[in-house]
Amino acid sequence: LNVSPEQLTRIAIDIATSVGARIMELREIGVSVADRKSSITDVVTAADREAERLVVAALQEARPDDAILGEEGTGIPGTSGITWVVDPIDGTVNYLHNLPAYAVSIAATVADDAAMADGRRAIAGAVFCPRFGELYEAWEGGGARLNGTAIAISGATELATALVGTGFGYTVERRIEQAEMVSRLLPRASDIRRSGSAAYDLCSLAAGRLDAYYERGLQPWDYAAAALIVREAGGAILGRDDATMPGEPLLFAADPRLVHELRDVVLGAPTA
Ligand code: IPD
Repeated sequence: LNVSPEQLTRIAIDIATSVGARIMELREIGVSVADRKSSITDVVTAADREAERLVVAALQEARPDDAILGEEGTGIPGTSGITWVVDPIDGTVNYLHNLPAYAVSIAATVADDAAMADGRRAIAGAVFCPRFGELYEAWEGGGARLNGTAIAISGATELATALVGTGFGYTVERRIEQAEMVSRLLPRASDIRRSGSAAYDLCSLAAGRLDAYYERGLQPWDYAAAALIVREAGGAILGRDDATMPGEPLLFAADPRLVHELRDVVLGAPTA
């Protein structure tokens, strides 16, 4: 690579913070549903599309030879070996309802057969939550920061006292499975939170606010940057290669000593 992960992080930070400020402005003007995707609950707003256009234009200016994959349909090939994975607004339903937990998520990834994110590994990433004024960022091997200060996971090792975040997808089939997962977990954990933005939840885990997170059916743009931030904050991620259920990727994140118990309880695995 002709660039360091730290330099890539700097690019992600600059773009995420400027586009984040822009989507907050657009929210003030007013937002409505522009389209629905996989189901009636899977919405997209004009701001999602505008934000993706802005991120893509800025990335192409900064890094013209890189590939770009974006939630709202961007698929630009590249020659450098780096693929940017972009969620212009993670937490679109919150954004629509004017709830504050939404984020711009930008990750630089490289090919890695063993990795998540459809065979890519994030080496740099930024998640900016404009309504909270919170910028989370990390590069591989460099630790994770919130607004410039180093962060670390809580270190919680017991599920019974762990505050666990999760999220729900948009199709009825997915939600039936997710309801079953919640029914197995809720009696066994301290409590469950669902903020509406997987990127924000994973960053909350990285900052030690949540003790664990899981979701079935996340897409690479939802977690590419935030999963790197979790790892750099000391957390472990179990990805789809570890999933014992067929179908879409299942992601578990927690302290390395907690993540397997989390997975076993959520999946209803027999306890030893
Ligand atoms: C969604 C959010 C949500 C998660 C969904 C995602 P979007 O992303 O991250 O928390 O539960 O699975 O699709 O659609 O707002 O970018």
